[in-house]
Amino acid sequence: MEDSWIKYAEEFTSPEGDVLLSLARECYANYTNHSMLSGFFQGRVLSMLSKMIQPKAVLEIGTYLGYSALCFAEGLAEGGKVITLDVDEATNKVARSFVAKSPYADRIQFHLGPAAEIIPTLPERFDLVFIDADKPNYSNYYKLVFDKVRPGGFIIADNVLWSGKVLLKDKDQDGHTKALHAFNWMVKADSRVSNVLLPIRDGLMILRKEKA
Ligand SMILES: C[S@@+](CC[C@H](N)C(=O)[O-])C[C@H]1O[C@@H](n2cnc3c(N)ncnc32)[C@H](O)[C@@H]1O
Repeated sequence: MEDSWIKYAEEFTSPEGDVLLSLARECYANYTNHSMLSGFFQGRVLSMLSKMIQPKAVLEIGTYLGYSALCFAEGLAEGGKVITLDVDEATNKVARSFVAKSPYADRIQFHLGPAAEIIPTLPERFDLVFIDADKPNYSNYYKLVFDKVRPGGFIIADNVLWSGKVLLKDKDQDGHTKALHAFNWMVKADSRVSNVLLPIRDGLMILRKEKA
């Protein structure tokens, strides 16, 4: 979405810090799949949400280059941490190098491996979970993390509009689109949560766990 009002919104949004700026530049210079990175505007939204929630423990599913993990780290409560999961060794190495240059080096913990295997081993209770990995597993990740989120805690899922493809008729939807559409329905039907689908970038589903 390159509408002029988006540019205006970006202009009147606080800048990202130097580490995030150089990370975004690295991504645009050396990676073809830039759209995986949360990037400036969404990153500022995630940072602001984290500052509002002031989480002690954040779980991120899908690290990529560490951009969103660094954004969440900005809002951590005193002594808080971000645990971030990814399967990709090469991008994880880059993420670790940028986090090491940031003020959050000791507050972001990396786990390498399939998220569905790692999540059940995590003993933490989370204030905030960000789902941003393989789309076919979104509903699975939601079910795996739900009991680990404290009542009153939040889950945010990225890409829930999937470039608008969730609006296509069932027969025209590919596998990823169907999975995201099913995820959106699952959240809507879950009486334990309240939610809002924010049409920011590729769509952010934000939900609050109202009861266990
Ligand atoms: C969209 S990117 C994450 C972007 C990052 N959260 C950000 O906003 O900057 C998705 C990431 O999920 C990772 N991923 C894919 N399948 C996964 C799995 N089964 N377990 C953990 N991570 C996975 C990919 O390697 C990729 O780095």
